[in-house]
Formats: sequence, C-alpha cells, structure tokens
Amino acid sequence: MAQLTIAVAKGRTAKDTLALLKKANITFPDFHKDSRKLVFYNEDQSIKMIYVKAIDVTTYVEQGAADIGIVGRDNILEANADIYELLDLKFGKCRFVIASLKELVLSKGSTIKVASKYPRVTEAFFRRKGMNAETIKLNGSVELAPIIDMADCIMDIVETGSTIKENGLSIVEDVETISTRLVVNKASFATKTTDVQQFVEQLQKVLE
Ligand code: PRP
Repeated sequence: MAQLTIAVAKGRTAKDTLALLKKANITFPDFHKDSRKLVFYNEDQSIKMIYVKAIDVTTYVEQGAADIGIVGRDNILEANADIYELLDLKFGKCRFVIASLKELVLSKGSTIKVASKYPRVTEAFFRRKGMNAETIKLNGSVELAPIIDMADCIMDIVETGSTIKENGLSIVEDVETISTRLVVNKASFATKTTDVQQFVEQLQKVLE
C-alpha cells in the first residue's frame, strides 16, 4: 500500500516536476503526458501520484487526500490554504504582473477593472495600493479582456512574455516572482513525519 500520496499539477510545471522526481529515482512507469489516467504508482507502489489541475492541488493537500503537493506559488497564493510550504523547487519561474493595452497609472484612490485567473491575489494587490478594484474572474486567455474593452488591465503570470507581447499588452507593474513549490498537509506532516521528510530530502538532494 502506498505510504505517501502526492498531487502533481498538470500544465506548465508538469514536465519539470516529473523530471525532478525521476532524478530522485521516483518514477511512474504508467505515466505519459497524454494519458487520461489520473492515478499512478511508483515502481515499489510506495508512492501514489494523483495528476490534477494546478488550481486544485492545494485543495487535495488541505483536505488530506494528498500528503504532498507540487504546484506553482501563483496557485498557492490564490488558494490561501491551511498547509505547509516546505520547499522552493526553483523551476517554473514566472512573474505576477499587471499588464494593459494603454498606458495606465495605478494611483491611490482610483477605481479599476481587472481581469484575472487570480481574483484573491488581484484584490490583495489593489487593496495594498489603496485602489478600488473590480475583479472579473476568467479561467484563461485573460489577455483578451483589455483588447475587447472588458477590463482596464489584467493581473496574470508572465513566463516568456510572448502572450502579452503577441496581444499588444505591456507590463504596468511587476508584482512578484514565483516558482514551483512543495506543499504538505499539516496532519501528514505530524503523523507521517519520517516518510514526508525522506521524500523532501530526496528532492532537496537532487536540487543541490
Ligand atoms: C499562462 C498565463 C499567460 C501565459 C504566459 O496561461 O495566464 O496567458 O501563460 O506565458 P508566456 O509569458 O510564456 O507567454 P496558460 O498557458 O497557462 O493558459 P491559459 O491562458 O489557458 O490560462
């Protein structure tokens, strides 16, 4: 029976996550990126991997359905779950930015309409700025919102910068740098301490 369940985010960080696990000798023979399967086991069946949407990783971990999760800090910030963040895995680096089509001044007290996949992060940012933000939650292709005049700007992640560039947007403000993190369920950390620590150390060694 598996001692540990790990939730791995699908999408932009999946390839690097699986490569890191492989370097740490944790492999999932049945896994291939186009598979529709959602549950995989490593060679000796000691680790069960669930392969889930990035935004849901922290939910599986907080609920205890997974002991460990591997996901971008963007999703961790947005979820605001009651979990431990133990390790910066250093890949999947990107930045949270505010971007717009036209020149935009973010001045205290002003009102702004913002489209984002990250409403919590967006609201917190504009609250810190002392601005009144109306956030429009989208699930993707947020760069479209300013183009069709649905929002004044977007709060989104930028990796290569090509999506905002190809859509004629420019960065108004760099908010923060993010990367992929390892998160742990609080109860698992207390009851499966040795297994969790061993797993974390295995990855740490590879990262050094
Ligand atoms: C993300 C993000 C940007 C894009 C940035 O979207 O929301 O749209 O990637 O990457 P770039 O700077 O390298 O161009 P994602 O690819 O996850 O797809 P989505 O629009 O469907 O959310």
